[in-house]
Amino acid sequence: MYGNDFTTPDARPRPTPDAGDEPATFRAIIGDDGRVEPRDEMPEGYRKTLVRQIAQHAHSEIIGMQPEGNWISRAPSLRRKAILMAKVQDEAGHGLYLYAAAETLGVDRADLLDALHEGRQKYSSIFNYPTLTWADVGAIGWLVDGAAIVNQVPLCRCSYGPYARAMVRVCKEESFHQRQGFEILHTLSHGSAAQKAMAQDAVNRYWWPSLMMFGPADSGADDSRGHTAQSMAWGIKRFSNDDLRQRFVDMTVPQSEALGLTLPDDAIAWNEERGHYDFSPVDFTELFEVIRGNGPCNAERMAHRVGAHEDGAWVREAAAAYAAKQQARREEGAA
Ligand SMILES: [Fe+2]
Ligand SMILES: [Fe+2]
Repeated sequence: MYGNDFTTPDARPRPTPDAGDEPATFRAIIGDDGRVEPRDEMPEGYRKTLVRQIAQHAHSEIIGMQPEGNWISRAPSLRRKAILMAKVQDEAGHGLYLYAAAETLGVDRADLLDALHEGRQKYSSIFNYPTLTWADVGAIGWLVDGAAIVNQVPLCRCSYGPYARAMVRVCKEESFHQRQGFEILHTLSHGSAAQKAMAQDAVNRYWWPSLMMFGPADSGADDSRGHTAQSMAWGIKRFSNDDLRQRFVDMTVPQSEALGLTLPDDAIAWNEERGHYDFSPVDFTELFEVIRGNGPCNAERMAHRVGAHEDGAWVREAAAAYAAKQQARREEGAA
């Protein structure tokens, strides 16, 4: 999730229909590596997969505002506060583009929000970890937004037009988020011994959950059971979970050296033969537990989200009443 489509092994979606059910026009678009638009015929499995993935992605963007929003009032300077506010606001905007993209597939965002609030749809497990210190804001920007970029840049070429187009702007903004996180950590890492220790502690806590953001392995006991393969055949996904994870590690290790911080894995070493960094296998037990609702902050995040939605009911009612009034005036004018 968060630009990917996976869940726990016991909650895998039903298998999607085979290629025999695909309309010829759809097969032609996918075959030409073209874009499927809302008006085009598409198989029900493709539509459902996209609704699930885009909704999970949208939910992740808006829930992702909470861990960092927690530090807006305590940012160490006015400059840091202004940057963090802009970043958190960007995430709200990402949620809005994505709900709008999902609506082109014939769903209503009010229903998607109900599904989130009732636990029928998920959001990225990464946002169920707490932000204990200011350095966590840096680690989230550097590692979490960094992982999001690796996952989401290929989505700019996703076969579904509205999703692909939304991703272009999202990725540009994510790149700013990643740099602000890197800069926070760089400042701390070159500050006092206590500041450097705080930065290192944040990286130690966020490293493994960031690697889990790419989802289970594509083969072996944790494999995503053909889920990745189907999404790749439809041009929704362009690379496997493991390839994206490797790309993230290859990008991040040299950056950690530039920061003067270490990554909490002794197995990390350049492998000349593979042309990639080696790293230890990820333990997905924790990922599945967090997705099942047993992460450190799941209950807190959901309670806050549902509370914010209920507090905003009067705004939605007022906006709907205003729209109805404007509509009635237009009709009066036309009569
Ligand atoms: Fe975002
Ligand atoms: Fe971001």
